[in-house]
Amino acid sequence: MKHSILELCYLLGSVTFILGMKMMGNAKSARKGNIIGAIGMTIAILGTIFLTQRKNETTGSYEDLTVSGLVYGLIFLALGLGTIIGWLTAKKVQMTKMPELVSMFNGMGGACAALIGLMEFEHYAGDSGALIAIVSGMVIGSVSFSGSIIAYLKLNGTMNKPIRLPSYNIMNTVVMIGVIGFSSWLIYSCSAAGSALWSAGEMSATAQSLLYALFACAVVYGILFTIPIGGADMPVVISLLNSFTGLAAAFGGFLYGNYIMLTGGILVGSAGTLLTLEMCKAMNRPLWNVIFGAFGGGASTASATEVKGAIKDISTTDVAVLMNYSRKVVIVPGYGLAVAQAQHIIKELETLLEERGVEVKYAIHPVAGRMPGHMNVLLAESNVSYDKLVEMDDINPEFEQTDVVLVVGANDVVNPAAKSDPASPIYGMPILEVDKAKNIIVNKRSMSAGYAGIDNLLFYDPKCSMFFGDAKKALTELVAELKTMD
Ligand code: TAP
Repeated sequence: MKHSILELCYLLGSVTFILGMKMMGNAKSARKGNIIGAIGMTIAILGTIFLTQRKNETTGSYEDLTVSGLVYGLIFLALGLGTIIGWLTAKKVQMTKMPELVSMFNGMGGACAALIGLMEFEHYAGDSGALIAIVSGMVIGSVSFSGSIIAYLKLNGTMNKPIRLPSYNIMNTVVMIGVIGFSSWLIYSCSAAGSALWSAGEMSATAQSLLYALFACAVVYGILFTIPIGGADMPVVISLLNSFTGLAAAFGGFLYGNYIMLTGGILVGSAGTLLTLEMCKAMNRPLWNVIFGAFGGGASTASATEVKGAIKDISTTDVAVLMNYSRKVVIVPGYGLAVAQAQHIIKELETLLEERGVEVKYAIHPVAGRMPGHMNVLLAESNVSYDKLVEMDDINPEFEQTDVVLVVGANDVVNPAAKSDPASPIYGMPILEVDKAKNIIVNKRSMSAGYAGIDNLLFYDPKCSMFFGDAKKALTELVAELKTMD
């Protein structure tokens, strides 16, 4: 009976995960989706703690486990501590620090999968199927753990330069092949009859030590894999490591015959893989290019196009006049908006313009900012209506009828070189075609390049004016100026 209820809990949990993920695909339902998934996870955890039974292989029936009060106490202490730490961290985190938080949480998931492998290994001597699941989960989890910690350090600025050891690509490949070879040999040696590493279902001390050595090698590989990659490429890497963690958890589910772990792991693994590929597609870069660190590492790459022409700047008063007499304004938010924390003042600008009869929309590029949905979440923080956020493919045909495009802290996502310069590193990346608008105003602090490290042809367009300054400060002055106008 207990076992059937547990299976039902797992089924319920799996359904809520899938439903929750589906709902997270839309900003309006994302919050609810997250809660539904969390409820499913709570049901699955409580079910596991109170309803797990051991199968009697002779009778085929399920029998209760003997669990002491102390063990229950320790389980709930760990759950309580984890919940408090997770809750407080998630409450306090700033939107711009979200990728760091994701990488830290992901690293913890990888560490859990690695610990499962380290603890369970000794119990499965001679069982090749179980050993494959254990060793694979431990190795992948360890890579994900150490890789995520490095990603975290890069994102918070502690490790601000990519470290490229001599011939690092060759070295990493050799270490990866070495780890795979070592894993395969260990699995074989601990399951092949007559092996010195185990006998009568007992692992030898040497086998245990070899497992720890393999764990150390996998941790080192995770570090080597991540250190050469540029900090700005970390969101893609985190998403890739996320898929590794999912895979490692799925191996745990396979080992225990636990369907919720298996479903959860497969969902995280496939979602992480899809997200990684989507991000690469939106940046027009193959995954290998991200992993082997061609750009985004802080080194500046130059576009092949020689930029000709002059730039012109514009005063706050002129921007205010231009906007005040427009019929349609499209705002293009980018990474700089998040850095300046200008989301509230931009909402004030929107309200002010709408009060004057100006139609205002926001053009959202899929990789604007530094993480998927960065701009949507940032603008939602200041209560910008979801209906005003228009995706790239839908807004591009509207630019021709737009009087003013205001680009705030965005750079690469509006660079026409992506369409016109085959030698540019971003050539082929879909962009917001703001150059089709009647007037273009770009707010940024200087002529510095964006993430891709290249010059932006848009700034030299005769229709474009540079509105220099920190986004928050410049927009605050613009709003003040607009308020003085009738
Ligand atoms: P970027 O091309 O990185 O440009 C941001 C611009 O903001 C910079 O040129 C900078 O110029 C300006 N800026 C910085 N601080 C500012 C401030 N306080 N006030 C005003 N401006 C400020 O940003 P984007 O257009 O959003 O493009 C995103 C890039 O990140 C793309 O190349 C994309 O491929 C990459 N990327 C995105 C993701 C995801 S999933 N979103 C993941 C990995 C990589 P100044 O220094 O002159 O002010």
